[in-house]
Amino acid sequence: MGLATYAAEYPVEGVAHAYPVQSRVAKGRIARIDCDEALTMPGVVIVLSSENPPELAKDADAELALFQSREVAYRGQLVAVVVADTYENARAAADAVRVEYEPGNHDVSLSADHPGLYQPEVVNPDYPSDTEKGDVEAGLAAAATAVDVTYTTPVLHNNPMEPHAAVALWDTEGRLLVYDATQGATLSRDTIARTLGLPAERVRVVSRHVGGGFGSKGTTRPHSVLAAIAARAAGRPVKLALTRQQMFDVTGYRTPTIQRVRLGADTEGRLTALEHVAYEQSSTLVEFAEQTAVVARVMYATPALRTAHRLVRLDVATPSWMRAPGECPGMYALESAMDELAYAMGMDPVELRVRNDADAEPDGGLPFSSRNLVACLREGAHRFDWDRRDPAPGLRREGEWLAGTGVAASTYPARRRPSKAVATLTDDGDFLIQVAATDIGTGARTALTRIAAATLGVAPDRVHVELGDSDLPEAPVAGSSMGTASWGSAVVRACEELKADGKEGRADTTEEVAADARTARHAFGAQFAEVRVNAVTGEVRVPRLLGVFAAGHIVDARLARSQFVGGMTMGLGMALMEETLTDEEFGGFLRRDLAQYHVPACADVERIEAVWLDEQDDGLNPMGSKGIGEIGIVGTAAAIGNAVYHATGHRIRHLPITPPKILALRF
Ligand code: MOS
Repeated sequence: MGLATYAAEYPVEGVAHAYPVQSRVAKGRIARIDCDEALTMPGVVIVLSSENPPELAKDADAELALFQSREVAYRGQLVAVVVADTYENARAAADAVRVEYEPGNHDVSLSADHPGLYQPEVVNPDYPSDTEKGDVEAGLAAAATAVDVTYTTPVLHNNPMEPHAAVALWDTEGRLLVYDATQGATLSRDTIARTLGLPAERVRVVSRHVGGGFGSKGTTRPHSVLAAIAARAAGRPVKLALTRQQMFDVTGYRTPTIQRVRLGADTEGRLTALEHVAYEQSSTLVEFAEQTAVVARVMYATPALRTAHRLVRLDVATPSWMRAPGECPGMYALESAMDELAYAMGMDPVELRVRNDADAEPDGGLPFSSRNLVACLREGAHRFDWDRRDPAPGLRREGEWLAGTGVAASTYPARRRPSKAVATLTDDGDFLIQVAATDIGTGARTALTRIAAATLGVAPDRVHVELGDSDLPEAPVAGSSMGTASWGSAVVRACEELKADGKEGRADTTEEVAADARTARHAFGAQFAEVRVNAVTGEVRVPRLLGVFAAGHIVDARLARSQFVGGMTMGLGMALMEETLTDEEFGGFLRRDLAQYHVPACADVERIEAVWLDEQDDGLNPMGSKGIGEIGIVGTAAAIGNAVYHATGHRIRHLPITPPKILALRF
């Protein structure tokens, strides 16, 4: 209804507008910044840059340590900011800021033989980079059938509907309030406070409504810090709203990957070896090591398993979180390779996965709290009429159109983080739930209302949920599909205590959550895709996508379906459209807007069905729920790519599968 107030929309008296200046080189040193002209322009209040660096904490995160260094780390980096009375005046003056560079020779190209590749100590968030169990070479040598395949995924960008923005206000006691587009008010408060060298109590972050994030708002981005220091320097409130193009530069992106997968299987289709090696990039500023190959430690039983990550630090912005970081690109490669193995040995791809189901985590040996991958595959195969499918590829043609179907598995961890919550009986006999959770468009208020009402045994309309404010009880981000499980656990405990106490309940789940590590907790799923490939135009249509998920107890059917379908839609974009090109010549990215970075629009999405199995798992958390925000995107691209193979008889191993790549095939 347009009633939700987003960060940039809070009416703030006397607010000034900030517009950033971005680096035009990808590497080098700033020799001089001339803002004389900018300062004379209408409405200009201040210009900040490394000429007059703001005071920040010495240990600030390098992406957030604005103007502390004269070195340029990537093209598009924020190198100055203009504050003016209006947005237009700030923007005009930012254009007049002259930055002189001593440019260096940049390197922005990831390759699997880059001399700078190294093994990071850990991959996100804290997994070992490499693991090895059994003898992979022996397993491959003994295999009846083996595949050795390399896939690539491009740079991908989150495009939430709400662009990133922050409004910063300092009060007379030196307390900072930031209206921030963030996935976590508590985390954003802590990060901003640490960056500015302030105690956390002096910062408050409010993010009552957030228009999507997908990870791009999962960590504090530079503009939020910039709004705070600009407001401090200007002595008045400052709003900084990024443009869509600026978002591509400073709000993170999914690292491109090069992934080599080697699989061996015996004559029965049982894996004898699995190797998954991922090559990816980070910036010179911060090591961000995506956990791309970690999925191979979860998926299939095998006597020999090796996973590895190699990283190279390039003159690029630091990659960041994007829906199912790690699992999403990793499962694209692993599930495409499983499909290749199935065809190579003439086995049905559903059956191959069923045969290799694991009864404990293949890597660490931890028991699964619950694992219903096989049930998802069977249910999906049934609903998709999989047994009527002709297994041979490249055979079904109607005029210009080739038809095919494909399958891939999905998985995502089902963890939770410690959270606090307070439940209070109000004077009018209703119930107030307070938790610094964030609703990024997922319906967190609705889910938490349901959870509280169920625990209290009252009608949902008697429960009022307050969230999106760091002054509320501390809570983790809406991320890693952990929001509902984390906040919900605290809400249940707070409500239980309220029931016992009669007036108020306070919860902190730190201890409860610490015990979770005893089981392997993952959601699973199976995705089925039907494609039509036009042999003349090269376009790929997806008439039908079906996802079957086993994600514990589903708290709210409508919200869950929306998350699954949204994830699958984003996976369709990854398969067929989304790609940010790196500008090899000048550094930075090409395609920095929605005219060129294509995401699926309604006409691209035909029939998407998401269903789930009712999974009973009492060991997870009081709701018995697993996260659902990310698993929907995991495996979708592989299912579509596998269907394109089935349709055409050709394997395209480099996403996205665009018309030029189809037209390069010979049918
Ligand atoms: Mo999500 S990438 O964990 O915000």
